[in-house]
Amino acid sequence: MNEKWDTNDSFSYKRMYKRHPSIWKFVNSFIKDENITSVLDVGCGMHQLYQFSGDWAGIDVNPKIQKDKIIKADFLKYSFDRKFDMVLIMGVVEHYLCEHLKQFIEKSLEVNPKYVLIGLFGGIKEKGHRRKTIVGRHRVYSLTEYGKDTFENIFKELGIKDFQIKELSKKDVVIIVRRK
Ligand SMILES: C[S@@+](CC[C@H](N)C(=O)[O-])C[C@H]1O[C@@H](n2cnc3c(N)ncnc32)[C@H](O)[C@@H]1O
Repeated sequence: MNEKWDTNDSFSYKRMYKRHPSIWKFVNSFIKDENITSVLDVGCGMHQLYQFSGDWAGIDVNPKIQKDKIIKADFLKYSFDRKFDMVLIMGVVEHYLCEHLKQFIEKSLEVNPKYVLIGLFGGIKEKGHRRKTIVGRHRVYSLTEYGKDTFENIFKELGIKDFQIKELSKKDVVIIVRRK
């Protein structure tokens, strides 16, 4: 990751949430439809999943987030001692290089979820992947734009057959992994 997450800027976090309503609408319906009772929210930021009244745990590497129920740690290095119905990874993997994507997926499987949902806030390409430079108002940073084939190859390597790449809009994508 080329970014340092050390802000307690709740405005930026809220803006992120508002920019991707279709993703959050989808996640909330998914939780209801699939009767999800426990969620591990990876890179949860300011706890966007506020509507979920069930068993929720967030993990975020940003030490400045001031919220209850959040484990302040690097997900890739943390050892979990319990299971979750669903792992949610929204707007996180784009900040990493492609080679880390598999680590996020493998790590998610450790909590034995029925579902893993990965949200991409910048769309998905058909093939290949590339690093994009974003010139924001306050900073310049890089994001990885993934290709569908990147996910397909990783899922094949991990023996995951039941997955779906759902493009909710040009920018908002959710990848759903279902495990029996
Ligand atoms: C773009 S924000 C997304 C926040 C939230 N998921 C949302 O959708 O609004 C990415 C978040 O991922 C967190 N993050 C990045 N790498 C992480 C890691 N290895 N472990 C835990 N959190 C991480 C950052 O601190 C940041 O809060």
